[in-house]
Amino acid sequence: MNDVVEWLKENGNLKVIDEPLDVELEIPHIAYIEVKKNDSRPILFTKPINRAKNIEYDMPVLMNIFANKELTQKIFAKHPDRVAEGIDKLLKLKPPKGFIEKLKMIPELFALKNVFPKRLKATGECQEVIVAKKDIDLDKLPILKTWEEDGGPFITMGQVYTQSLDGNMQNLGMYRLQQYDKNHLGMHWQIHKDASHFFDQYQKAGKKMPVTVAIGGDPLYIWCGQAPMPHGMFEMLLYGFVRGKNAQLVKSISNDIYIPRDVDIVIEGFVDPTKMEIEGPFGDHTGYYTLEEPYPIMEIETITMKKTPVFQATVVGKPPLEDKYMGWATERIFLPMLKPMAPDLIDYYMPENGVFHNLILGKMKTLYKGHAQQFMHAFWGVGQMSFVKHAIFVNEDAPELEDDSAITEYILNRLDPSKILITQGIIDALDHTANETLVGGKLGIDATDIEVENGVEEPIKDSELLSKMQSLDNNILELKQYFTHTKNPICMITVNKTDSMKITIEKLKELKAHIKVLIIVDKTNNDIDEPYMLLWRVVNNIDAGRDIILEPFITVDGTNKSKVDGFNREWPGDTFCTKETLDNLQKRGLIDIDEAFIKKFGLLPFD
Ligand SMILES: Cc1cc2nc3c(=O)[nH]c(=O)nc-3n(C[C@H](O)[C@H](O)[C@H](O)COP(=O)(O)O)c2cc1C
Repeated sequence: MNDVVEWLKENGNLKVIDEPLDVELEIPHIAYIEVKKNDSRPILFTKPINRAKNIEYDMPVLMNIFANKELTQKIFAKHPDRVAEGIDKLLKLKPPKGFIEKLKMIPELFALKNVFPKRLKATGECQEVIVAKKDIDLDKLPILKTWEEDGGPFITMGQVYTQSLDGNMQNLGMYRLQQYDKNHLGMHWQIHKDASHFFDQYQKAGKKMPVTVAIGGDPLYIWCGQAPMPHGMFEMLLYGFVRGKNAQLVKSISNDIYIPRDVDIVIEGFVDPTKMEIEGPFGDHTGYYTLEEPYPIMEIETITMKKTPVFQATVVGKPPLEDKYMGWATERIFLPMLKPMAPDLIDYYMPENGVFHNLILGKMKTLYKGHAQQFMHAFWGVGQMSFVKHAIFVNEDAPELEDDSAITEYILNRLDPSKILITQGIIDALDHTANETLVGGKLGIDATDIEVENGVEEPIKDSELLSKMQSLDNNILELKQYFTHTKNPICMITVNKTDSMKITIEKLKELKAHIKVLIIVDKTNNDIDEPYMLLWRVVNNIDAGRDIILEPFITVDGTNKSKVDGFNREWPGDTFCTKETLDNLQKRGLIDIDEAFIKKFGLLPFD
């Protein structure tokens, strides 16, 4: 990481902050704000402290390494599309016919020799310092507490290395890790993830599970940790493929797990499968808190590190954040891997305000009736794609998927209730909207066909439509129509919700001549003029099976749910910055933001 810091100074416009700053809220808030800027930069905090615990740490904190697309590309040393092309070639390899074809294949096959990680006999630079069990104290690491309501400090860029019970499969996953005390960490591997599958094996066998957590080293390690590799494939293979050199691994001191030799900090230990601990709450990348739930815990045996380690961390919360850029690379690189199951897929895009699993747009060469539906089922059935809640498919003649305005227009001109599929399936463990955990509504929109014929029967102005609505239901507070030039304009309203929106929708049915698509959000903490955050809110807040009605016009209920909606789980709150901390950082000149910025990204609750 020290090399990375030097490299970032030259290549990444690294910002270095030498002022003492608290690991609780201050450092995370600065990084959170920085990465929302158009010209966001990585930051090195050289003097992390913890005022409450009276600690001055002896290692710096490096954040926002994936601060923007340009830097992400530099970390890969090539555009992610070039990596994708390499994978595509490999997937299409055919047995060569004749000598000349064999010769042509040599460079590709030669490149494969770099893929397999090497297990070294020697120890690594990451083991220069060894902390014995009796001396272990996680308080010596500058572990961040990001949000006021977080259940404690969390390691947010931990590379979690595990292996199957028989030792044949290895895995690297990026999971957050809650610090409980001096020597225990919470293992937040969600139920669908590889480490959780290994954990099940150890639990059944009644054996302790070895785990090693690494921090730092080549930034590509952590990217590989979040990459959705198929079950059973070690992410270090992908590392070797991207870097064009084998990952060099050394054995942990106290267990059999291998980790990269050049990481900065290594935390080794065992998980006792008979013990679970309450994990969370934690302000997550959905922009909501994930609530308390039991997760396995690791007892630490040994910590090893370099002589001068750097502590790498990230912040998750409302988009856009560092995971936007990590996710962008993932999206590009995994395109060829989707093609074997959906060969006519041309491209796909997961906008960051859809927080990845809440929205995917796919462009396809449509060959037959039902083709888009076939893709929906394929996506919902495979690996981590199956978490996607809302999938929209467009035809090959559609504009660029990343052109938000043009693509929305295209979709709205083709939106037809008879081409909307609402079904059920597995959902991300972080989803908060379904009536029960892990299974919930799925929405698929087939917008691959020609434009629909009819638009709004009798279009009227916002003010007129609002007063008509208010005469039917006085809980409706604001109204704004978007994309009125399309066949299916979106009528957005905010409400002061006192009862189920089904009652309101029933009352509004008589206005069907004026409405094609109605979207409802709470007035609280939503700005009707901010489509970026409105999209974030709505795709986060709905369970399609419960919250979408197709007749007489399409209605989407994006309000927070409670008992009045038949929802009996706890509804989590938004991740908000702490006002006092923001004010203080602003006064000290460490951040420079105005009211518009605060409102745009929902940094503080609305008055
Ligand atoms: C910033 C960030 C934080 C993440 N935190 C978690 C987490 O706490 N738990 C989890 O299961 N997945 C988390 N993920 C997603 C996993 O890293 C991702 O699903 C990965 O592919 C899992 O690897 P696996 O399939 O080998 O288990 C996170 C991803 C990112 C980018």
